[in-house]
Amino acid sequence: MKISINQTQLYIEQNGSGPALLLIHGYPLNREMWRPQISTLSASFNVIAPDLRGHGDSDPSPGPYTMNMLADDCADMLRVFGIEEPVIVCGLSMGGYVAFAFQRKFPSKVAGLILAATRAGADSPEAQVNRDKAAALAVEKSINVVIEGMLPLILSPKTYEKRPQLVNKVENIMGQTSLEGIVGALMGMKLRPDSTPDLGQIDIPTLILHGADDQIIPLSESETMHASIPNSQLEIIPDAGHLPNLEQPQLFTPIVQEFIQSIYK
Ligand code: MLT
Repeated sequence: MKISINQTQLYIEQNGSGPALLLIHGYPLNREMWRPQISTLSASFNVIAPDLRGHGDSDPSPGPYTMNMLADDCADMLRVFGIEEPVIVCGLSMGGYVAFAFQRKFPSKVAGLILAATRAGADSPEAQVNRDKAAALAVEKSINVVIEGMLPLILSPKTYEKRPQLVNKVENIMGQTSLEGIVGALMGMKLRPDSTPDLGQIDIPTLILHGADDQIIPLSESETMHASIPNSQLEIIPDAGHLPNLEQPQLFTPIVQEFIQSIYK
């Protein structure tokens, strides 16, 4: 359903009942990237999967979309759904950056954290320059040029070569992002703060997942987070790149399910 949050119409999909699980997608994706998890996990949990502003079926607004702004959107969505109790916050990549912001802003609303294919650090100066280049490319050429550049990197080399249907699916999901959404997210990620100093203070159960063949965020980023977050578990998903939940759902989803069940046992 579409609801008005901070003057923007945002799309949120809700399925199932039980403990609430908030799934925050990466860039430039949308809730569709969580389809295998929505299908399976909604049998046990109240799964809330939004499209962040400018992505999927959510309207764009002028950027930058700071991680704080996106975290506020998520908190407002939960409020609209009447969810008062702490939730499990699961974010992949940019969704992980939003999860860090959510945890910082609303610690009492988080029962557990799931950080997939993400990193705690801010952008390096070089990465910031690359954000500007990608935004300029999207504006001057088209979002398709940005998507075409990202597609071979977002999946593992093996997935990219051997699973054309999945490649097409990811390309289609990315193609549903608006130009304003792409630029707003790039500028918001460029501005995001370093979450590394917060890691030692995270005092809730945390599950970290990373594809062994991630070409966008190196596995070492998850290893660093695991070493710094006291109550954390690291799971490395073989034969997966930056989208381990889509490339290996049969491995990814049960790990998530068990983790959540261990919190509510
Ligand atoms: C994502 O997958 O959300 C982005 O690639 C993250 C990033 O560009 O830092």
